[in-house]
Amino acid sequence: MRISIIGTGYVGTVTGTCFAHMGHEVVCVDVDPERVKKINAGEPPIYEEGLEELLKDHAGKNLRATLDYDAAIAGTDISFICVPTPTDADGRIDLRFVREASRSIGQRLKNKKSYHIVVVKSTVVPGTTSGVARPILEQESGKKAGEGFGVGMNPEFLREGKAVYDFQHPDRIVIGADDPKAAAIIRQLYAGYTCPVLETDTKTAEMIKYVSNAFLATKISFANEVGNICKRLGIDTYKVMEGVGLDARISPHFLRSGLGFGGSCFPKDVKALIGKAAEVDYEPLLLKTVLKVNDKQPEIALRLLKKHVPDLKGKKIAVLGLAFKDDTDDIRESRAIPLIGALLAEGAKVVAYDRMAAGHMKNVYPNIGYAKTAGDALDGAEACLIATEWKEFEKLDVEFARMRQKIVIDGRRVVDPRGKDIIYEGLCW
Ligand SMILES: NC(=O)c1ccc[n+]([C@@H]2O[C@H](COP(=O)([O-])OP(=O)(O)OC[C@H]3O[C@@H](n4cnc5c(N)ncnc54)[C@H](O)[C@@H]3O)[C@@H](O)[C@H]2O)c1
Repeated sequence: MRISIIGTGYVGTVTGTCFAHMGHEVVCVDVDPERVKKINAGEPPIYEEGLEELLKDHAGKNLRATLDYDAAIAGTDISFICVPTPTDADGRIDLRFVREASRSIGQRLKNKKSYHIVVVKSTVVPGTTSGVARPILEQESGKKAGEGFGVGMNPEFLREGKAVYDFQHPDRIVIGADDPKAAAIIRQLYAGYTCPVLETDTKTAEMIKYVSNAFLATKISFANEVGNICKRLGIDTYKVMEGVGLDARISPHFLRSGLGFGGSCFPKDVKALIGKAAEVDYEPLLLKTVLKVNDKQPEIALRLLKKHVPDLKGKKIAVLGLAFKDDTDDIRESRAIPLIGALLAEGAKVVAYDRMAAGHMKNVYPNIGYAKTAGDALDGAEACLIATEWKEFEKLDVEFARMRQKIVIDGRRVVDPRGKDIIYEGLCW
């Protein structure tokens, strides 16, 4: 099939590259010329395991990127909208990029003779595809959905860092469409997949994505709450959750307590669901608490640090890990951001290290120190805080000897203190 991908971030680049790898003709459209240039040169605009190799194989062959909507829509049969859907200051979803992309596609559908399908892959609140994207497409194209073109919703469940693997090995595929022709064509695209394929209307597909993320975020906040109680009781919460997770009804995933969740999805999607619930006059108490528990975890880390270093003014504190999780350079909503903010408010001198995400964090905190290695960050520090579960931190040992005081506050349970000459404090253990 000939596919256009609108927006080449984490979702768009991975989706486009993986579709190209399946043998489809792919055109990626972005408004950012730098991204377009990179993709055409076979360089991923974001870091994802395995993406560079795949992109190099297909860029300039059956995958190309462009700024030109005209050629992209005229030359393809199906478009996937993969643009950002941030939340606004009130926590409601901001759909301006979805509107803009729908307008741009709709204008090009006007003169298109053949049937074209527009699929929303961005995470959008229930009712967006049928109530926002579809009317814009109809208005701009002068055609009716279901006749001149089709509309669908195909939420993306990939994990950053493992996005290529997840796209190729999904647990399920959800296809939302309000007309059977669109649903059938989208289904054809995924014909080679052996996982369950669920067909729904667009509103249900949109809700499935939100509920999945809200449930996973709830599991993390639940694990953090349990962890906070366990720490006070002198019980190892990781052993507790090992026992709990063995229950097939619960599963062992997302039960690791620590600094909490970040990233481009969980915080914003829980907020957007809360915002949508408010619109329909419902107060989601549980979801609000999920965010509150999450916001508290960095505060708890600071409190633990101050137990060991009561006055942080002028003290060098190392922050190890800036990405919101390991295997990514993404710092959006990273727990390291409020953590560093709190340290700076206390007058600490922060030196941070992250093998991939330091460049992005420099835009948020240009005036803190950035070290080239974890050892250099630790050099002369009064204490260190571990904010990301990077594997390399598991191996830290002799590096701790470079600290002025060997105090380690571990927010991710990556350091095993046994046999190490350090003062170790786990966040929830
Ligand atoms: N990142 C994830 O792990 C993930 C997982 C599942 C779903 N999602 C959802 O997918 C969507 C995209 O997320 P992302 O992380 O890939 O975003 P991103 O910010 O990494 O990338 C979005 C891209 O869209 C481009 N863009 C913006 N407006 C455009 C327009 N009008 N036309 C063409 N391009 C435009 C931007 O320049 C950018 O390159 C969001 O709704 C997100 O919630 C993200």
